[in-house]
Amino acid sequence: MSGHEGHEWWQSAVLYEIYPRSFKDTTGDGVGDLQGIVEKLDYLSDTLGVDAIWICPFYPSPMADFGYDVASYRDVDPMFGDLETFDRLVARAHESGLKVIIDFVPNHTSDQHPWFIESRSSRDNPRREWYVWRDPKPDGSPPNNWLSVFGGSAWELDEHTGQYYLHSFLKEQPDLDWRNPAVKEAMFDNMRFWLDRGVDGFRVDAVLFSMKDPDERVNPPNTEGLQQLHKPLGAYGAQRHVHDQGHPDIHGVFRQMREVLEEYEPPRTSLAELHIFDPKQLAAYYGGDLDELHMPTNFGLLKAPWSAAGIRGAVEGLEAAIPKPGALNWVLGSHDDRRLATRLGEDASRQAAVLLLTLRGSPTLYYGDELGMREAEIPPGRQQDPWGMAEPELGRDGCRTPMQWSADPGAGFTDSPEPWLPVGRDYAERNVEAQLADPDSLLNLYRRLLQLRRGSAALRRGAYRTVGGVPRDCYAFARSESLERVFVAINFSAAPLCFEATGVSGRIAVSTHRGNEGTEVSGSLRLQPHEGVVLV
Ligand code: GLC
Repeated sequence: MSGHEGHEWWQSAVLYEIYPRSFKDTTGDGVGDLQGIVEKLDYLSDTLGVDAIWICPFYPSPMADFGYDVASYRDVDPMFGDLETFDRLVARAHESGLKVIIDFVPNHTSDQHPWFIESRSSRDNPRREWYVWRDPKPDGSPPNNWLSVFGGSAWELDEHTGQYYLHSFLKEQPDLDWRNPAVKEAMFDNMRFWLDRGVDGFRVDAVLFSMKDPDERVNPPNTEGLQQLHKPLGAYGAQRHVHDQGHPDIHGVFRQMREVLEEYEPPRTSLAELHIFDPKQLAAYYGGDLDELHMPTNFGLLKAPWSAAGIRGAVEGLEAAIPKPGALNWVLGSHDDRRLATRLGEDASRQAAVLLLTLRGSPTLYYGDELGMREAEIPPGRQQDPWGMAEPELGRDGCRTPMQWSADPGAGFTDSPEPWLPVGRDYAERNVEAQLADPDSLLNLYRRLLQLRRGSAALRRGAYRTVGGVPRDCYAFARSESLERVFVAINFSAAPLCFEATGVSGRIAVSTHRGNEGTEVSGSLRLQPHEGVVLV
């Protein structure tokens, strides 16, 4: 993708997250499928122009957690297609210059996975040790106070064998025991299965959960209100999760996982989900010799206040902490978070596009955020997310509604009168077709930014430097590579700003306010309320 010596594609790739249930349905059952992704590859590679896609789980699954409960790591759920369609997807994506990253769920399987069915069948089954089984306390209660992220105890009693098994998420998602070498090897082999089929890397799900305290000590209460995710955590937030995840032994697993990825030529990559907000702590997961995770996910922007100081602080903190040439990752939306446009509003959605596509590193764009898709209100009775059923304010259905392709019934997503989640109410106005026809649309802003980024070595791999001496409500930075220099400024206030700053000169190549594009700037810059500009 860059081909520049020492610079790997993933260090600056724009990654596009696809929630396959909601992207494009080609069978008319109201659920998206792999063939749907194949049919939309042109949109991704040409119309939009991203570098890579990350596809959320499509493995056979009872869908208790919509695919994050895997019943077979080596197949495709018939609802999504088959292996042949997957192979075609990879081949076509590669022909279009897109890399393919797939979700890998190491911490837990489905309770319907053959390993777990065997494991729970008797105490002396050889697979018993593949999961975490423990005796009840003398009073019959669970072995310790660990909680499930989705609510309640993390331990479920199996009446038949009289022991509890551990599940950090739903009880239908039993945790594998990664301290068992046989589990580790089997899971690495599952990764090789997909690497052999040509995938370019994995998004590794909930990865810190794979190593717990070997003594299984109780978690202390969260008396200081420590934030452990980028959103409030319901009942789970009442504890400090120091013993049920993130044990330092996880670093050994990451090093081995990296070795597996490097068995391939060219080496494959990892984007790994972890919720660590202290940049110095996050840095540790790259590995001392950059020999662990390629891209530990950085959710810092989701938590940062949407202000010049807030965003500058989040960026500078990460820039300072991550060892070069480690790849920075930037996230402002995902299948687990409220929609960006709903959280931050219309103006900020445009600023977010400028920010994500000009910072150093690899941003992840969540499908539909390029249209400003809104968090949908899901009527009672249509809710799907198990987390939302347990704790309604944490439900994730609203950000998972069908992609809005056109004003056709079903938003061009499906022919079914009943898609698995209702389409957003605004689909007739907010859709790909309509936004392509409107030069001022958010989608066209994304397209211009992506096009600029593709042609600019400074934006792809240039150094980052904060530009000082700008008004309090402005965040400005420069990216430079050899003689090329790009200057970015974002006005976070509702008032215009005019200022002079050294080095502010060039042409406005892209602006959130399209009418200002093409303007030559020299010495002083005028920004409209909420305007973000990229000067070349
Ligand atoms: C991750 C996924 C989330 C899933 C959970 C359990 O956090 O992003 O969607 O529910 O892991 O696998």
